[in-house]
Amino acid sequence: MPLEMVRNDITRMQVDAIVNAANHSLLGGGGVDGAIHRAAGPRLLEACRALNGCETGQAKLTEGFDLPCKYVIHTVGPVWQGGAAGERRQLADCYRNALALAKEKGCETVAFPLISTGAYGYPKAEALRVAVDEITRFLLDEDMTVYIVVFSRDAVELGGKLFGEIVSYIDDVYVDKRYESGAETRRRLDMESQHAPQAAGGLFRRRHREADARNETLFAEAEAAMPTAAPSPNLRSMIENVDESFSEMLLRKIDEKGMTDAACYKRANIDRRLFNKIKNNPSYRPGKPTALAFAIALRLSLDETKDMLLKAGYALSHSSKQDIVVEYCIMTGNYDLIEINEVLFKLDLQPLGY
Ligand code: APR
Repeated sequence: MPLEMVRNDITRMQVDAIVNAANHSLLGGGGVDGAIHRAAGPRLLEACRALNGCETGQAKLTEGFDLPCKYVIHTVGPVWQGGAAGERRQLADCYRNALALAKEKGCETVAFPLISTGAYGYPKAEALRVAVDEITRFLLDEDMTVYIVVFSRDAVELGGKLFGEIVSYIDDVYVDKRYESGAETRRRLDMESQHAPQAAGGLFRRRHREADARNETLFAEAEAAMPTAAPSPNLRSMIENVDESFSEMLLRKIDEKGMTDAACYKRANIDRRLFNKIKNNPSYRPGKPTALAFAIALRLSLDETKDMLLKAGYALSHSSKQDIVVEYCIMTGNYDLIEINEVLFKLDLQPLGY
């Protein structure tokens, strides 16, 4: 995914460049600045001395020395003064100038901390919005993978109004797989059998057999009620009438929405190479997070989303919290993929995309 949020210590990131939330002197400090200087070793301080400081919003680069990354890009974020002193623009400058420097050095992967959200007091959720806006704007024209690295304890302060709404929706509809009723099991397994690729047929049969005793009785009754000798289908006519594939539906929807391919995969936060693989291979079946990311990027209705998922061999399920988050957002008309991924990130669920 071109933009990803990860929980980590930025000094451990194995990327081309990490960004340091420094101060004007560039001579080290606490927080992430202190962590980076400690991990890079004393040569970093020597290199920073030669930079002669840095203005707020500007960015300067050094080697990574003992860090696992090649470069450190030092930037100075604004001190939060309530939001009326141009802090937002200054913070945006930090991301924009750091990315420009990374591009200039040919970096393919860059990791940012949440600049200004520690000692400088910038509210985390607002700072994250600035970061995401600037990074996604940059990624519209550039091929780079950018990580926003969140310290695990910080994550609790992320996520605004949408997060709260979704948590209560999950409470209402989530079906824990371990306790789903026999009827729901049968519906789920039937769905999987209808759409699982033949290669997985065996897997379905095995899971069918492994279903608990309760479901076995239900299935025995259901099968007894089914017509015994269904007419054997004509294989040729089945192949000739094969349904539209996922790839074909995706390209059709891009045309119907009047989008370009690039606009679609960028909005879906999908890598150009993966999109081309899907586009050039009509029988390609993407992962579910990828299929869902395209549904969001295309602003599909819930029914269209279910139809598109089916073509990739999936179904929305209330035993998947990720599916519930997506269902809620589509039902409420929220197609902001980044905001949806922020909520998934906070819930420790896999983000949409890849
Ligand atoms: N990895 C990732 N994120 C980290 C790490 C780390 N190792 N350490 C801290 N953070 C997070 C903090 O939790 C915070 O969310 O980085 C964000 C930025 O916090 P600070 O490091 O305090 O940076 P900032 O708010 O920009 O203040 C800069 O603090 O450290 C001094 O010298 C620095 O004077 C400058 C000021």
